[in-house]
Amino acid sequence: MNDWTLDYLHFDPTQEGLREALCTLGNGYFATRAAAEETEAGEIHYPGTYLAGGYNRLTTEIAGRVIENEDLVNLPNWLCLTFRPDGGDWFNLMAVDLLDYRQTLDLEAGVLKRQLFFRDHQGRETRLLTRRLVHMAHPHIGAIEWRLLPENWSGRVLVRSALDGRVINAGVERYRQLASTHLVPLSTDVPCDDTVRLQVETCHSRMYIAQAARTRLRVNGQTWENKRQTSQEPGYIAHELALDLAPGDEAVIEKVVAMHASRDRAIAEPGLAACQSVSRAGAFDDLLSSHQHFWKHLWQRCDVKLDGGGRAQMILRLHIFHLLQTVSPHIVDLDAGVPARGLHGEAYRGHIFWDELFIFPFLNYRIPEITRALLRYRYRRLEEARHLARKAGYQGAMYPWQSGSDGREESQQVHLNPKSGRWVPDDSSLQRHVNAAIAYNIWRYHEVTEDCEFLSYFGAEMLFEIARFWRSAATWNPQRKRYDIRGVMGPDEFHDRYPDAQTPGLDNNTYTNVMAAWVLARAAHVYDLIGERRRGELSDILGLENEEISEWITLSQNLYVPFHADGIPSQFEGYEALQEFDWAGYRERYGDIHRLDRLLEAEGDSVNRYKASKQADVLMLFYLFSAEELSDIFSQLGYAFPPELIQSTISYYQQRTSHGSTLSRVVTAWVLARSDRRQAWDLFQQVLESDIGDSQGGTTQEGIHLGAMAGSVDLIQRGHTGLEVRDGMLRLNPCLPEALPGLHMRLRFRGHWLELDVNHDRLTLVAPEGWGEPKRIMFCNETYPFSESQPLELHYSPEAHCWQTNKD
Ligand code: BGC
Repeated sequence: MNDWTLDYLHFDPTQEGLREALCTLGNGYFATRAAAEETEAGEIHYPGTYLAGGYNRLTTEIAGRVIENEDLVNLPNWLCLTFRPDGGDWFNLMAVDLLDYRQTLDLEAGVLKRQLFFRDHQGRETRLLTRRLVHMAHPHIGAIEWRLLPENWSGRVLVRSALDGRVINAGVERYRQLASTHLVPLSTDVPCDDTVRLQVETCHSRMYIAQAARTRLRVNGQTWENKRQTSQEPGYIAHELALDLAPGDEAVIEKVVAMHASRDRAIAEPGLAACQSVSRAGAFDDLLSSHQHFWKHLWQRCDVKLDGGGRAQMILRLHIFHLLQTVSPHIVDLDAGVPARGLHGEAYRGHIFWDELFIFPFLNYRIPEITRALLRYRYRRLEEARHLARKAGYQGAMYPWQSGSDGREESQQVHLNPKSGRWVPDDSSLQRHVNAAIAYNIWRYHEVTEDCEFLSYFGAEMLFEIARFWRSAATWNPQRKRYDIRGVMGPDEFHDRYPDAQTPGLDNNTYTNVMAAWVLARAAHVYDLIGERRRGELSDILGLENEEISEWITLSQNLYVPFHADGIPSQFEGYEALQEFDWAGYRERYGDIHRLDRLLEAEGDSVNRYKASKQADVLMLFYLFSAEELSDIFSQLGYAFPPELIQSTISYYQQRTSHGSTLSRVVTAWVLARSDRRQAWDLFQQVLESDIGDSQGGTTQEGIHLGAMAGSVDLIQRGHTGLEVRDGMLRLNPCLPEALPGLHMRLRFRGHWLELDVNHDRLTLVAPEGWGEPKRIMFCNETYPFSESQPLELHYSPEAHCWQTNKD
């Protein structure tokens, strides 16, 4: 098996939506779904092109309310390319006999290919070989190459190459009742012989987008010159070219497209920039070679090799590939966040959630510049977060659960339950824990990079304002002599209120409170860390007094955490009193119950009544912190947290979770990695299958689940190696699953690249040139000296049951 390609050997119309998402090509600036060039949006196909940060807002009247939605806009379809024999129909895969079919996504090169052999109703047999790329080095360029080979016929052929801006956002069935026309056509023209241009504008955000498409033809290696026809209407322009072919001929059609938007840097205006970019772009093969070159370097940094290769390896690479296509180094110059569903579809409207928590660790250890840029996305929206806090009666900064263009709260207020057809209230914006995730991400980025400039200038300000928010969100409870955080939702989105309560919100969600305690303590620590000058500046700017810092510390030691009678931390106060859910009965009745909230609502019941969670909630704590860190946090809070509690807590919640979010299995696999390696490996396999196997039953076609994709790689990167940075020291503590013989990867730690090889009985860590002074690395709780000339080499001694250096 080739573990660098995703191959489909049969055409299956029912799978096209899924494959279009999985074979999306992108470069961090824009991405385009893998709809075949000759297709249009309809039951089977959904071409979609999305720009990082390319949002627009529309209003709709629904369920008696006027609601506003901000969407990642489906931009003009630049793919349109088709042909027909003179007098015949335009090429349609559904209307021919398919004699041979293969679609390949080449992950190494970043190229999507098709090899087709078909016979039409007139008995004409044709071979069509297609290649497509979205250029990784020139982020404004996409290119298509078609090779057309008539096998048994000759005659005139018409080729049509178009730009189509008459598109709407129609990629998610559940949203179809919502307004969806975002684009206003501006103009179409033919700026030079072989190029057409289309310009459109988004109706609210007034983003002006220009695409220019250059179409060239060669027949048997000779440039084909002939007159072209142009057809145009508002929002659409096409070139039509006629040529004569006979058996044995090969026609090569190349379409190179450039796209620019009004918010691009270093341009005069998008229309001109698109023409310039396309006229300067080389031929397909030249573009391919520079594109591959860029990918080669990305893979050198980012590949994670599993010994034994196989399907797991291929899927892991697919996940890395999509991560890099969504947030490539080009994002560094953009004002964009990382959408939970990639730039691969319209689910969640391209919004940004807490999923960064699952995505950043991979980037931190490889291209931390990307994490920095994504944290800057949050920093630019700090003022909006302050406004949100004030509006809700809090202080500091309260980041929204869902974020889009300007950082206001983009969560929907109602959502459609497809099982009942009802629009039901959506209170998910009460997930205040997104603030803790941002603070946590700032700190973890700092630990891996030691980017002090970022921490003191941007990170500290966000951290302090988030700490202030938590301080204002906590209220003193004189009965229990602790602080409460009331009226929130935890990560588990099934529970949004107490059974039969009129108002949404739950009290003392353990995850939220523990994270708030961690943020408050960390903010106080960073206040000490940033140095006197910056401390003085920030204190002035933010009006921070020492007294307030002391309050953060007090609060971090006195937040309330609810426990069940048997000592298990309760997901929230009152969780223990909820009814047990009939998991077996519902599984038997419905089979797939991962969205049992929808099933219960359709039955007139509510999941709020049951001990049934959509996803890991309390268990998130074991995911984000090592056992040592967690035990410190609990002891700082004045709660005992005996090590055996970890296992019983995991097992308690595991039995009560439907994994209705793909993130949930990532967390569960992680927390089991050391105690139950076999189950952890099974869960890891399920995480790998989430998107490629569309395990949520139809959701992947609406966009990949980037958090789970990145999380799967991180399970290998950190989960099974025990990689962490704590107190400034890099630590390793490998625990490979039996089924994984070994792994190899490169890591970047504080500006230096390291090469790590681990298998069950040997670990080597090599520092390439420039590592500098010898440092110490912590491995399984022992520290070892380590330098450029002295790589760390450890062997497992089965007799001694421990790891030893050669010198032991
Ligand atoms: C999950 C959230 C997640 C969101 C976007 C939801 O289904 O419950 O935790 O942030 O999807 O991925």
